Amino acid sequence: MGLIPTMGFLHEGHLSLIHVARQHGADFIVVSIFVNPLQFGPNEDFQRYPRDEGHDRRLLEEQGVDLLFLPSVETMYPPGAATKVILADVADPLEGDRRPGHFTGVATVVLKLFNIVQPDVAVFGRKDAQQCAVIERIVADLDVPVRLVFGETIREHDGVAMSSRNSYLSPEQRALAPALHRALRAGEEALKHGIHQAEAVEKLMHKMAAESPAVEVDYLVVVDPITFRAPVDFHRDVLLAGAVRIGKTRLIDNICVPKNAMPHAHLK
Ligand code: PAJ
Repeated sequence: MGLIPTMGFLHEGHLSLIHVARQHGADFIVVSIFVNPLQFGPNEDFQRYPRDEGHDRRLLEEQGVDLLFLPSVETMYPPGAATKVILADVADPLEGDRRPGHFTGVATVVLKLFNIVQPDVAVFGRKDAQQCAVIERIVADLDVPVRLVFGETIREHDGVAMSSRNSYLSPEQRALAPALHRALRAGEEALKHGIHQAEAVEKLMHKMAAESPAVEVDYLVVVDPITFRAPVDFHRDVLLAGAVRIGKTRLIDNICVPKNAMPHAHLK
């Protein structure tokens, strides 16, 4: 059994995870759709998060999904519920820093989904790289009997990572959205050309993003893909991670640069 947890308003990024689950041997696919209030901050977009149950149902039927789990908030958090899963370390920087409590909400709901559905395999997208690391941590720390698999980021033709939140963007704002991916790509090129100094690469990414002044950078960083912090060892894989705001919409993206793509890194 394979589980793909989602918050709905499904797109090809979500659907790709169904194929990944099948590739990893799942022949009974469960998709959950639950807009989890616990992972949204008080000033975030829980209320206006996009929802379209009819469309989601049709897509999942087309994909031959066996079971859709669509719990209510009361089912997941009945009155009196008092337990939360709180992580340290990997959940602290970047998204954890900008969105206090976010990973507590993610960790709590994902552990509950694992316990309710009891899948053999669970699939998550690398688009949310830090979320993948958080879930890996829970599974290891709490001995959760599930195999985790991570799917690659599915992008639009202009490089923008597919996201339910892209639907918030006006056409004018959408036209600016590739700036995030362009900045990360510039960082990737620099690493591949042997610039193995985090500060220089970050400066370059900021410079690229600054070409679109309406895109406000939250962070654009070079980090260790395990700790999500500096220092970075350029003899190992390196993660370029970014978050920007376009108007009220916050978008995140990342690129992992494998160690063997960085020419000088392994000469030492
Ligand atoms: P949601 O944003 O709906 O994403 C559900 C899953 O789809 C996550 O694993 C996410 O990383 C993956 N995903 C989103 N966009 C993707 C893309 N462009 N390519 C590949 N995978 C993509 O992430 C959540 O929901 C929630 O935090 C959840 C894990 C369901 C817990 O509430």
